[in-house]
Amino acid sequence: MNQQAVLDILPDHVDGKRDFMVFGHFLEHFHRQVYGGVYDPGSHLSDENGFRRDVIEALRQIKTPVIRWPGGCFVSAYPWKKGVGRRVPYYDKAWRVEEPNSFGTDEFVAFCRAVGAEPFICTNAGAGSPEDMSDWVEYCNLEIGEWAAQRRANGHGEPFDVRYWSIGNENYGSWEMGAKTAEEWARLVLESAKMMKRVDHTIELAIASIPDLDWNAKVLREAGDLLDWVSIHGYWSSASDEGIFEKGYDNLIARAFEPEERIVTVKHILGSLGYLGKLRIAFDEWNLRGWCHPNFMRFGAADHALMDANDINSNYNMADAVFTACFLNSCLRHCDVVGMANFSPVVNTVGAIFTHADGIVLRPTYHVFDLFANHTYDEIVHSVLASPSFEVASEEDSATSVPQLDAVATRDSATGRMGITLVNLHGADAITCRIRGLGASAFADATTRTVNGDAVDSYNDVDQPEAVSIFTAELTLDDSSDFSVECPAHSVTVLNLNAG
Ligand code: AHR
Repeated sequence: MNQQAVLDILPDHVDGKRDFMVFGHFLEHFHRQVYGGVYDPGSHLSDENGFRRDVIEALRQIKTPVIRWPGGCFVSAYPWKKGVGRRVPYYDKAWRVEEPNSFGTDEFVAFCRAVGAEPFICTNAGAGSPEDMSDWVEYCNLEIGEWAAQRRANGHGEPFDVRYWSIGNENYGSWEMGAKTAEEWARLVLESAKMMKRVDHTIELAIASIPDLDWNAKVLREAGDLLDWVSIHGYWSSASDEGIFEKGYDNLIARAFEPEERIVTVKHILGSLGYLGKLRIAFDEWNLRGWCHPNFMRFGAADHALMDANDINSNYNMADAVFTACFLNSCLRHCDVVGMANFSPVVNTVGAIFTHADGIVLRPTYHVFDLFANHTYDEIVHSVLASPSFEVASEEDSATSVPQLDAVATRDSATGRMGITLVNLHGADAITCRIRGLGASAFADATTRTVNGDAVDSYNDVDQPEAVSIFTAELTLDDSSDFSVECPAHSVTVLNLNAG
């Protein structure tokens, strides 16, 4: 017999409102993300601007709300002024390749507009200066000044109105060009934020951060009142200089709730510094799997063979889908403090979409974004989940206990329709979830949409594009305030209920 979980829902008790920007993505100048990814002027699948039409359509389908660009580590030596107007290829010191430089600010903003996403520009706080950063804001958002004139000269009469900006990328880390101590970081953020907001005070500003009290205390005491977001990052299964580790489903799933721990730590840090309710978390790079960039910390050349291996579709399976759903559930549960998240990256590498010469492959994670973006709703309603747990081997080969089911209940404030996420983390066993609506309004009908494949290692590829896809079923409910839903092993379901 299946294991049983019970989800009690109070549909009229709203815990909070989610920000749709938690379904955002990230695009870096790395391997095939920009060139040969979203931007491919030579392709028969591209539009007149060189953007891949099939990628745009796929990103519109999942209502991509925001895209962060241009890095990542790439940004810390990115000379943005050389990426507008006349373009000359240059040597990229982050990834040690030649940067073609034909995709810059104008192209990024145009790509975002085609997708319907907000552009989120991460500035160069490595080799760059506060003046460079604020000139970038001027280029994008002002009507007057030298850089606004440059934008007009480049064919863009109207300001781009880029609302979301961030100062730096991972500047706390020794790997980053222009790494800083907490004290150095605090001064740079203060000067940069001041100049950027003097150019346009309506922008929202994030800073590179970590779940560390001292780091945040120093920078927020100096500059906290000029900021709107703290950015944090997370990858839970790293690639090494030798390549990609083969990890089992259980090893990966053991980490499914670690992102939530990171969110809670940062929330407590913001609270202890008096910034809870004033600053929000932008989890602006995240993925179960880290990118493979061998030799990054050594002085060797970029290893293209290993980067290519990182792009292979069979690497990305139901573990990625289940982890992604748990991550998004964590953002919804903490919607009071998490306002943005950016899956890293948007195409290729370990991303949700794979591009090739004749089309795209939608990886399992893509379908999870499809479910969450299209079938969950703005209000997070109160629910209490009782789920059995099971033991999984963590990476260190010690056992970790994880709940078999993870769930979040959402409701559409306009129509009362509910969208309930049900994630079965178990690799072999199904689970039955009994759902009780406490004090609930009646529900007329129920639909489940489930992302799954035959096995934990099912994946999509050019010759099997739908091995993992969304399966839809209509349920007949005898009692719409007390009924059960079957959740197959390693699956992600969204249950929709219409108000009766
Ligand atoms: O592996 C991707 C890189 O990871 C990004 O460039 C950087 O921001 C992060 O450390």
